[in-house]
Amino acid sequence: MPIYKLEHGDPDRREAVAQWLWGLDLVSAPVREQIVTAWVTAWTSSPFIALEEMPFSALAPRYRLKAHVNDVTRTGIDLARRAVEQWGDAIDYDVLVPVLALHDVDKPLMFSLDGDAVGYAPLAREIPHGVVGAMLIKDLDFPDKVVSTVATHASNAPFHGRNLEAFLLHYADFFSADHVLLHEGAGHTPFYQRHGR
Ligand SMILES: [Fe+2]
Ligand SMILES: [Fe+2]
Repeated sequence: MPIYKLEHGDPDRREAVAQWLWGLDLVSAPVREQIVTAWVTAWTSSPFIALEEMPFSALAPRYRLKAHVNDVTRTGIDLARRAVEQWGDAIDYDVLVPVLALHDVDKPLMFSLDGDAVGYAPLAREIPHGVVGAMLIKDLDFPDKVVSTVATHASNAPFHGRNLEAFLLHYADFFSADHVLLHEGAGHTPFYQRHGR
């Protein structure tokens, strides 16, 4: 079995992804189609029948990836707009939006769901989270900055990229994850409290 198979998807499946993802109106038409194809590929290569089933984390089984992705994209765009207004930073939304919307595109391939219990698929012990997403993104010809930023975004990655998109993704991603851990994390320590531990 291949890790994933690039899949364009039928119109209904593409429409379901396009209806779900926030921020597609911020990018050019070709990038919008690439983003939809990336999620269709992850979805059709995963065991999940519905987008709503895809898990976010074993630490917060009731919170779903579908919510997290849009939480991160919305927050990342809020932060980007603040960076533009406050510091005059230049943002390329054709790079930033795919970084935000696709940073966890490999998660459907990394998790299993048994009732309410979230477990790990064998792939999660073979290739790190983020790296598989970066492979998929590379296969769809996204720019190198999208590939490298997704490859290195995870909390346990050896380093994080030194570019504006990586910085914005980091704070948006951990803002969302820590909100979940504070409210639904069943005692798991949020990332912002883990310094020095
Ligand atoms: Fe992630
Ligand atoms: Fe994330």
